[in-house]
Amino acid sequence: MSSRLLVVSNRLPVVIEQHGEQWCSRPGSGGLVTALTPVLRQRGGLWIGWPGTSVQKGLDLDGMLAEAGEAAGFNFAAVNLTSDERDGFYYGFSNEIVWPLFHGLHTRCNFDPSFWKAYRAVNCKFARTIKENVQENDFIWVHDYHLMHVAKELREVGLRQKISFFLHIPFPPPEIFLKMPWRFDVLEALLEFDVLGFQTQGYRRNFTQCISSVVPGLSVRGRGRVMTTKTPRRAVQIGVFPISIDFEEFADKAASEETTARAGEIREEFAGRKLMLGVDRLDYTKGIPERVKAFGDALDRYPELREKVTLVQVVVPSRTAIHEYQDLKAEIEKLVSEVNGRHTVPGWVPIHYVFRNLDRTELTAFYRTADIMSVTPLRDGMNLVAKEYCACRIENDGVLILSEFAGTAATMHRGALLVNPHDQEGMADAIFNAVMMGKKERQMRMRILRQGVRKFDVFWWLDMFLKASNEQDAELAAPPEEYDLLALLPPPSVAPPIPAHLPDPTR
Ligand code: ADP
Ligand code: G6P
Repeated sequence: MSSRLLVVSNRLPVVIEQHGEQWCSRPGSGGLVTALTPVLRQRGGLWIGWPGTSVQKGLDLDGMLAEAGEAAGFNFAAVNLTSDERDGFYYGFSNEIVWPLFHGLHTRCNFDPSFWKAYRAVNCKFARTIKENVQENDFIWVHDYHLMHVAKELREVGLRQKISFFLHIPFPPPEIFLKMPWRFDVLEALLEFDVLGFQTQGYRRNFTQCISSVVPGLSVRGRGRVMTTKTPRRAVQIGVFPISIDFEEFADKAASEETTARAGEIREEFAGRKLMLGVDRLDYTKGIPERVKAFGDALDRYPELREKVTLVQVVVPSRTAIHEYQDLKAEIEKLVSEVNGRHTVPGWVPIHYVFRNLDRTELTAFYRTADIMSVTPLRDGMNLVAKEYCACRIENDGVLILSEFAGTAATMHRGALLVNPHDQEGMADAIFNAVMMGKKERQMRMRILRQGVRKFDVFWWLDMFLKASNEQDAELAAPPEEYDLLALLPPPSVAPPIPAHLPDPTR
């Protein structure tokens, strides 16, 4: 496909921020930025989004973005938000309504009606910026829950081009989604896109159940298409495209000299002990308190783990203006100090807690050093850190403990130890199993995991999406090897054996 990529997301991959008198740019955090950056770098194109700040005196935003674009290899166009717009649209509707609701945590929602107005106004602003920048043959690709209203706004200003959308987070089942006061408007707005992409079959199924039950006059046909009854009749394609990472980039970085040197230093610091790693944005969906409690439980119930395993929990600050996020930080710190208070002995602190952004070398060095990676969200669209860990395990060793409720579980359940993050004892047992697992089994599992991540990388995801979008009548196939979570449930307290019918990658 030769058309230019026009990617639109709330966040640009760079964040402009002020330090004293100086304006600086730094990489944005989160899975969307990690996944899409290599795509734009490979194909070129234009990325429209919010630079994380408002226009202010002394800031040459255009100059800074042009410079950042040159370094990145593609172009940026900014959508500037006032602080009121940021509060109502970003903190408010996006992150106090859609984020918790779509992750199944409706009790954390603040259904303030003013947020909805701000959301629509800012989506309209994004649509105007798209209209100003779009070229005739562009592939317009809107991303994530902040921008579900953009196609509707674009249609209203007369844009008739094909518009695609990918949702990076889960889509909830009808009984959760229907709690949203603006449920009809949101569904109808989503159906103004031509292609809708979801991370898993389960999320797509939730969406099609919602539209069949609440939007009158719609029929869902086949496995992947929705027919609308509007005039002229138009079809909306609905597909499953599990997002991924640039496997080779992570593997190469892990093998690089600087990462190898840093990994050596970390290994020395934790010599004689197993290292278990957690890497998350500070978010209540990530299950960090539950993980810390389970780790404490494992140390309480399995004395043989004491002084033998250390948890390094890295947390990157996120959405700090929302009080739920501030409360979470305090809760994690309290739990970490409780476990450390209970078990620390001279020469061994059970949990090392790091609250900052790590650069790529530091991050990949931790992935390379960690014997066990714990990715245990309460619910997550995908959770790319699980894939990053596997890509960085260049020696084909290591254990991934993975929540059943992460999107990654749909495709990585075979090599990982699946856990229910609400089951403290089951999680503690999984930690014990991971620490005790023999090398042969660890290697076999990691090979399976790495094969999957290497094959179904972010470029595969891109090709699938573009192919599906360009072939109107193509049946949107689910990716190979996807299983339904409900069909996967393993016995919680034992490491599930590798199914006998699978090829043994060690042979
Ligand atoms: P989400 O998008 O919800 O944050 P993902 O696991 O999909 O969850 O993506 C998180 C991304 O943020 C990953 O690319 C990960 O490497 C990065 N990240 C998370 N925590 C840190 C950290 N402390 N320092 C650097 N990068 C981080
Ligand atoms: C998730 C969302 C992204 C978001 C990221 C970081 O990955 O799906 O859209 O960019 O979290 O969150 P933030 O609020 O900092 O953009």
